[in-house]
Amino acid sequence: MATRVLGISGSLRSDSHNTRLLRAAAALLPPAVEFEVYAGLKAIPPFDEDDEQAPGASVEHWRAAITNADGLLFATPEYNSSIPGVLKNAIDWASRPFDATVLRNKPVAVIGASTGMFGAVWAQAELRKALAAAGARVLDSELPVGTAHEAFADDGALAEQEHSSALAETLDGLLGEIAARAAVTGSR
Ligand SMILES: Cc1cc2nc3c(=O)[nH]c(=O)nc-3n(C[C@H](O)[C@H](O)[C@H](O)COP(=O)(O)O)c2cc1C
Repeated sequence: MATRVLGISGSLRSDSHNTRLLRAAAALLPPAVEFEVYAGLKAIPPFDEDDEQAPGASVEHWRAAITNADGLLFATPEYNSSIPGVLKNAIDWASRPFDATVLRNKPVAVIGASTGMFGAVWAQAELRKALAAAGARVLDSELPVGTAHEAFADDGALAEQEHSSALAETLDGLLGEIAARAAVTGSR
């Protein structure tokens, strides 16, 4: 069965640099890897413990998408030196119930873009922290794409070779984690 990677953009806007970054990543993946950008984040309601027994279709859909993916690639903007609320909310839902979270041992990589100079480094660090707390196997690496409005070529690829190489390295790391997990669980 093909390896499946799910891309999750922390930005909902249609012209998002982070969604663009996920597309640039998709172009660097080996053809045998299936890649999809998750499109349902906006439909997920605010987390409420009272709703945990019946979280609704959008949350079930989100959890199933994670379950069905061999690995996750998050691209996050930075909002006020942290991650967008919509992303934290989605992670909170995915992290429950704690003893059966779909994030447990899931291979995950985090990358990010911002229009500021620092490329969402703080947001990436916070996102890695939240995902690790939820039990995911989070790659240590980060990919800060600063001045994101100038970072992409017309064909959608990252303009700077340094960024492109770092992204390819991150993807290698993620695919390596996926293979390592499959070797242990015998899945895929
Ligand atoms: C509410 C809000 C807060 C922001 N805070 C930061 C920030 O702390 N650091 C930063 O580098 N950029 C910040 N930005 C600018 C974002 O990096 C920029 O809007 C970026 O393009 C968002 O990602 P996107 O293109 O994927 O939507 C902020 C933008 C918004 C809307």
